[in-house]
Amino acid sequence: MNKTITYSCPSNIALVKYWGKKEGGIQLPANASISWSLSDLRATTTIQVQPKEGENPRLTFLLDGNPKPSFEPKINDFLKRIQPVLPFLGEVDLRISSQNNFPHGAGIASSAAGFGAMALALVDAEGILEPHTDAFLQKASYCARLGSGSASRSVYAAPAIWGQTKAFAAASDEYAVPFTEPIHADLSQWTDAVMIVDSGEKSVSSTDGHALLGEHAYAQARFQQAQNNLNELLQVLRSGEVARFIAIVESEALQLHAMMMSSIPYYMLMRPHTLSVIQEIWQFRRESQLPICFTLDAGANVHVLYDSRYQAQIQNFIDSRLLVYCQNGLYLRSATGGSPEKR
Ligand code: DP6
Repeated sequence: MNKTITYSCPSNIALVKYWGKKEGGIQLPANASISWSLSDLRATTTIQVQPKEGENPRLTFLLDGNPKPSFEPKINDFLKRIQPVLPFLGEVDLRISSQNNFPHGAGIASSAAGFGAMALALVDAEGILEPHTDAFLQKASYCARLGSGSASRSVYAAPAIWGQTKAFAAASDEYAVPFTEPIHADLSQWTDAVMIVDSGEKSVSSTDGHALLGEHAYAQARFQQAQNNLNELLQVLRSGEVARFIAIVESEALQLHAMMMSSIPYYMLMRPHTLSVIQEIWQFRRESQLPICFTLDAGANVHVLYDSRYQAQIQNFIDSRLLVYCQNGLYLRSATGGSPEKR
């Protein structure tokens, strides 16, 4: 097999968070989560597949055109995990070259977009399933999950649900599925503006953070809360109750960080400016009554979510009151939704 295939894949932001893995499985979530894809924050990945030259398959990985041997062990683990469903990987050498369309060192996790793009290209390279079909995307989601859990949700334009839940019969722990029901107009056109308050390396990786849930005193209560929040959020997406949407999304972000702060050992990824941005959003929302809220991923940066129909007023708020808290005034803006693309 000699093939070169390129995919771009969006990043995603979870509304209900995946935090904690099931014991005994490989990359199975302790609770269901749901996310919006971020169409303007993407990884573009090219894979070159050739018949293997040596005894064992060989991998070369490049980031932004430069060899990144330090990433290779993690990608090799990923390739081993997905080989049972993509057996051709045992017979080929791979050169994988990836780049993001957002600045490095912005402190924005790119693993969801990166593993999403890699999984799509590898499933395409196998050549069995027709690209863009449900079966193709499901297999890509399954593979992406084995690289990074949140990556399973990046292959869909619609909000993506990952993890079994009574609230959505088609959902699975093994792959994400799209929530294809009609979404109320008040929640269908939101933007994410990510305030880069700290571009540094995280002190504790997500993978290590997940592991701390194993012995966490509040873990079971948190998993139950997440299931309840997901259930309610699906109702809210249908009904358009924006106030409930905001309450669930902000509570999810704070619960995520509360779990970090109450892990043993404890840690904290929020920074003073994280809290300042949150306070500003709350104050602006009280004053303006506009549909705006925040969420956080496992880091200090604040995702400001708002209804795009109020772009002008909210841009003015961001420029005048939030940028002072951003490192070098940096923030990244993306529409929500957006599909992967074969290039
Ligand atoms: C806080 O998917 O990065 O962003 O599966 O170990 O790779 P691994 O973890 P990862 O965890 C993401 C956690 C989160 C919440 C979320 O995206 O749901």
